Amino acid sequence: MRDDGKRISMLTAYDFPTAEVLDEAGIDVLLVGDSLGMVVQGRDTTLQVTMDQMIYHAEMVARAAKRAMVVVDLPFPEGQLEIIRSIESSARVLQETNAHAVKLEGGAEQADRIAAIVTAGIPVMAHVGLRPQNVHVDGGYRVQRDAQSLVNDAQAAEKAGAFAVLVECVPVEIGKQINDAVSVPTIGIGAGPHLTGQVLVTNDMIGFHSGYSPKFVRKLGDVRTAIADAAKAYADAISDGSFPSEDESF
Ligand code: KIV
Ligand code: NA
Repeated sequence: MRDDGKRISMLTAYDFPTAEVLDEAGIDVLLVGDSLGMVVQGRDTTLQVTMDQMIYHAEMVARAAKRAMVVVDLPFPEGQLEIIRSIESSARVLQETNAHAVKLEGGAEQADRIAAIVTAGIPVMAHVGLRPQNVHVDGGYRVQRDAQSLVNDAQAAEKAGAFAVLVECVPVEIGKQINDAVSVPTIGIGAGPHLTGQVLVTNDMIGFHSGYSPKFVRKLGDVRTAIADAAKAYADAISDGSFPSEDESF
């Protein structure tokens, strides 16, 4: 798609019905993100998500996807332990789900690991810029501004064999520099318009969220209100005796 000048659309998915609807809507890539720790499990960070949980969600999403590519996050600390463990965990994704690739937070420091996973036959998307699994070392979720090391990360990932590079929370100009520095597709989140594609956390984009929403989110739906309205109408219909009606009874 990059070679054809086409922009890539990517969204997160964590369950069968959501993945089915996004796939049918024509989204190019579904990401089973470890963001599920925050938006599904209601935690403050992604750090508690386990490999078994990623497999559980990835299996449902990949079974629903008929045409989209499905990418699965390696959760903390799968990308930090022995390289053999990263290969084993990545292999689980391809063996226990129908997903196509894994995503790994890191760039230059992770290059050997990316190369080893790709050599094992497992496509890797690298994730540079803000790395949520690094939140405690960084002291929060911050825009990343070191252009030199960000470009270096993206180039190292490409050289190691990554098929794409996700770029999170960098200034517009650095997003452009990174995109220009590599030939594989770049997927941005909070990284400006000059990338090959864009990704958002679906729950943020559809308004299925009660908490803080970052500046880079475009809220295009209000699912939270839709569910609340339906729930209230249901409770009202029970209390006023109109549910179930004769048509809804045997
Ligand atoms: O876990 C996630 O959802 C991500 C994003 C970049 C959207 O990694
Ligand atoms: Na993630």
